[in-house]
Amino acid sequence: MRSYLILSLTILLSLSCFTQNQEISFDNVQAVVLAAGGSTRFNTGVTKLSAPICGQAMVLYPIKALSVLNIPITAIIGFQKELVQDIIMKTTLNNITFIEQKKQRGTGHAVLCSQPTWYTDNILIMNGDMPLITTEIITALWKAHQSNNATISFVIAPNVDPNGAYGRIVYDENYIEIVEAKHFTGSIHDYPFINAGIYLVNRAFLEDSLGSIEQNEQTNEFYLTDLVHIASKNNLRVVTIDVPFDRVRGVNTHRELADAENIKQKELIAHWMKNGVRFYKPETVRIDLDVTIGAGTTIGCGVHLLGNTTVGKFCRIDQFTTIENSTLNDHVTVYASSLIENSLIESHAHVGPYAHLRTQSRLTPYAEIGNFVEIKNSVIGQHTKAKHLAYIGDSEIGSYVNVGAGTITCNYDGMHKHKTIVEDNVFIGSNNCLVAPVTIGEGAYTASGSTITQDVPPKALAIARAYQVNKENYSKKLLTKDLTHPCKQEKMLD
Ligand code: UD1
Ligand code: CA
Repeated sequence: MRSYLILSLTILLSLSCFTQNQEISFDNVQAVVLAAGGSTRFNTGVTKLSAPICGQAMVLYPIKALSVLNIPITAIIGFQKELVQDIIMKTTLNNITFIEQKKQRGTGHAVLCSQPTWYTDNILIMNGDMPLITTEIITALWKAHQSNNATISFVIAPNVDPNGAYGRIVYDENYIEIVEAKHFTGSIHDYPFINAGIYLVNRAFLEDSLGSIEQNEQTNEFYLTDLVHIASKNNLRVVTIDVPFDRVRGVNTHRELADAENIKQKELIAHWMKNGVRFYKPETVRIDLDVTIGAGTTIGCGVHLLGNTTVGKFCRIDQFTTIENSTLNDHVTVYASSLIENSLIESHAHVGPYAHLRTQSRLTPYAEIGNFVEIKNSVIGQHTKAKHLAYIGDSEIGSYVNVGAGTITCNYDGMHKHKTIVEDNVFIGSNNCLVAPVTIGEGAYTASGSTITQDVPPKALAIARAYQVNKENYSKKLLTKDLTHPCKQEKMLD
């Protein structure tokens, strides 16, 4: 009797982060996520599982997909275990146990390390380096496993790329096995499916068979994939489900990291397009997983929206602007090449071009921040304008204030930071230094070129600059002096 079954399932290409599949019960399933590997092909000395993909560490993609389905998880950690554990713990997801694989001796050995944590009848094993996995695939695998009463079920995908380092599915009528790329000698066209790295295994079989996996002579590793050979050889039921390759790509190299991120990025952009967002040159735009964008907003070429950024409705974000961990309310305009970090921009405010809003800046409605203006830890009042070449740090600027070109708040005395307060309706002339701590009272004026070191009373005019002295006939006086230098002679005699 044929010992295996290949099921071709059409898996919807929907985004796991936007869909939930809760109808099916995973009560008798627990997961083991393999996240202990040495990431040697990554060539950075840092575990690939910490590499961000659209702003989220790679290992969190499978972990979150399993969490959405309420499947308890054992994470196998080893290489840079503190880093991987930290990333997972920061999510505050429940039901995750950590087990250390002290020496990285292959995927079979990694699963063996998790044995003390097993308590369900079915163990779902998953590589930690498959960031495009969806809850639909996990659900489909579980359904196929259950309905066929299988011993082992796993996911396969078509792939005939000769450069791929995947295990290849080798089968005939009565037998199926997974042959790792480095040991495969046949034609990939005869065996066009690869092993994705997700398996559902009957626990009793796993307990019996894991110990019988032999160490590979060439690599000294224990291959988890040998389980398929063991089951098939013993005429136990093996089931596969066939899904699109792009859903189950693995990431071993930086090339594969970029490929996976591109796919995720396209999905995210397609999602926001569907929700009414206009993108110019979408292939140049970066959007992280947790970003949200309101309908009617336009996003220019080369824009990066990163981290926990929220953009409201009908905003305009022009080319080459980067916005990170910030909130933009509705109808905000950001002109080209601006950088906005950890800030709040309220409705109808304008920023840029070439503006820099650093941490803890808040622009209230209709504020206007222009080119080469840097704002840090400051609140800018409604309808206030700082349109050119200014630094505003640790300040509270009221409403309807005009901040002249070249204004600097001198907030740092070399030891401490101090506050500048500018009340409503103030006019700050061009090229002012406001030496903090200092308060400019409501409706006051400061003359251009002033260095303001004392508080200015409301409605006053502060002039704090040297008086101008005009020396009459100065050039004539010079002529009577030493004119030996030839340039001077020429100039003076003109
Ligand atoms: C593995 C499969 C291969 C499959 C491919 C899919 C094996 C032997 N091969 O190959 O058939 O096509 O995934 O992407 O399983 N890990 C540990 N401890 C270890 C070794 C690895 O925890 O000792 C972890 C890694 O961190 C990684 C996962 O297991 O998350 C897979 O290991 P990796 O070395 O990437 O396996 P592949 O060569 O990609
Ligand atoms: Ca891999």
